[in-house]
Amino acid sequence: MLSLRGVRKAYSGVEVLHGIDFEAHGGEVVAIAGANGAGKSTLIKILCGAVARDAGTIAVDGREVALGSPAAAAALGIRTVHQELTLVPQLSVTENVLLGDLPKRGGLVDWPAAHERTRALLSRTGFTGVDPRTPAKRLSVARQQMVEIAKAMASEPRMLILDEPSAVLAGDDLDQLFALIRSLRADGVLVLYVSHRLDEVMEIADRITVIKDGLIAATSTPRETNEEEIVRQMAGRRLEQIYPDRREKPGRELLGTTGLTREGAFEEVSLSVCAGEVVGVFGLVGSGRTELAECLFAAAPHDAGEIRLAGRAVRLRSPKEAIAQGLAFVTEDRKGSGLVLDLSVRDNAALATLPRWRRHGLLDRKRQQAAIEDMNERLDVRPRTTSKPVKQLSGGNQQKVVLAKWLLSRPKVLILDEPTRGVDVAARVDLYREIDQLTRAGLGVLMISSDLTEVIGATDRVLVMHEGRLVADVPSAEADEELLLAHSIGVAA
Ligand SMILES: Nc1ncnc2c1ncn2[C@@H]1O[C@H](COP(=O)(O)OP(=O)(O)OP(=O)(O)O)[C@@H](O)[C@H]1O
Ligand SMILES: [Mg+2]
Repeated sequence: MLSLRGVRKAYSGVEVLHGIDFEAHGGEVVAIAGANGAGKSTLIKILCGAVARDAGTIAVDGREVALGSPAAAAALGIRTVHQELTLVPQLSVTENVLLGDLPKRGGLVDWPAAHERTRALLSRTGFTGVDPRTPAKRLSVARQQMVEIAKAMASEPRMLILDEPSAVLAGDDLDQLFALIRSLRADGVLVLYVSHRLDEVMEIADRITVIKDGLIAATSTPRETNEEEIVRQMAGRRLEQIYPDRREKPGRELLGTTGLTREGAFEEVSLSVCAGEVVGVFGLVGSGRTELAECLFAAAPHDAGEIRLAGRAVRLRSPKEAIAQGLAFVTEDRKGSGLVLDLSVRDNAALATLPRWRRHGLLDRKRQQAAIEDMNERLDVRPRTTSKPVKQLSGGNQQKVVLAKWLLSRPKVLILDEPTRGVDVAARVDLYREIDQLTRAGLGVLMISSDLTEVIGATDRVLVMHEGRLVADVPSAEADEELLLAHSIGVAA
């Protein structure tokens, strides 16, 4: 059904795909794995007509195709859910899903019919709980992802390409996505699935193709390979230890709450994060995790309860005040609130840290540059050049820049919301190590994650949220995935 020969692509003279040969058939699920910056998204953008290739041939059903535009790809039945969310924030779910194809009656949009069709598409994809009338900007990133998937399904695709769909989905939502993928496969649709979560890849794929530095490095079936081998093919090295050793006794409380409540989001949350510990927060989409983090960072108000910093009750009025008090917040939506895409890596990294580089009122650019370069080195941001606009970096490397920016601000308390979303396995290890070192030096970390292995492996204890309430506080050493899941859906004893 799909065949690529010698596909090449360069961005401003630098070649990033060096001749890709690839074949896939209808009714097949092919996973594409590879390190951050390997060229996965570039390949996918070529297939969906968003980026033009420089060389090579692509054939669909044995016939050579140009794929000169997204419309040309769509006409061939190729649909894509991109790594970066693309919904128009001001438009409703329905308008986003049916964009350009809204049902009409007597020249006017037939809204009841339009909402009904959207609802039907959402339920076909298995995602319920999204109101078609809601503006996209009001949805969490997970819900936005569901809408993107429904949108891709709006015209029966023959080939569905998913670029890291699971980075924001977890639990039941992920099961729904897998059920959808399996039913598409049964209908003869070709599904290409890009993911850094190798356990998922092993579960859903018929075949796994690894891209390394712009070339196909290996192809195998889940039966022939295992996660360790895929990592080796991706990274060119073995990973000895993914998570650092657990830290010993934490110090005094840095951030605490008592009875913190925000109506409609979370209730009566009492927690504490101490110096020298990493506290995980696990919960399903909609359990109030992100709202809680926003509240702690003074990016959203609360209705009742108390927030303490270093033991003193505080009333922070804005994120700016929170930053001044030593808080840092890595948001789950890097495009919305983490990064300014048009600015360079350097300017993004400097956004949260300007005061640090002032000396006698002047900006010490040399010192700033050295610190940013050092952090990029430690987190292995690629490419290293700090003058590139962030939008030219691969998704995972953009995420590393967000993390670098906040780590450079030398926070006392670091709040992370899905910090490793889209970050490859090897780079995650660098990140965990960096967080571990800072924590051992006295940092306190609150890490929200829907990745169960991460939320157990990288933390000292895990708080579980269910429907806006904290329902469990489990030492990571005693936590297992089933227990946390049971708490998160409210069925643990
Ligand atoms: N618009 C662009 N301009 C210049 N370089 C780009 C552009 N887009 C991507 N690149 C470069 O192309 C290379 C491949 O990037 P790509 O986004 O395809 O990686 P990826 O495999 O999808 O990585 P990730 O896992 O981080 O999403 C990277 O070196 C990246 O910096
Ligand atoms: Mg990518």
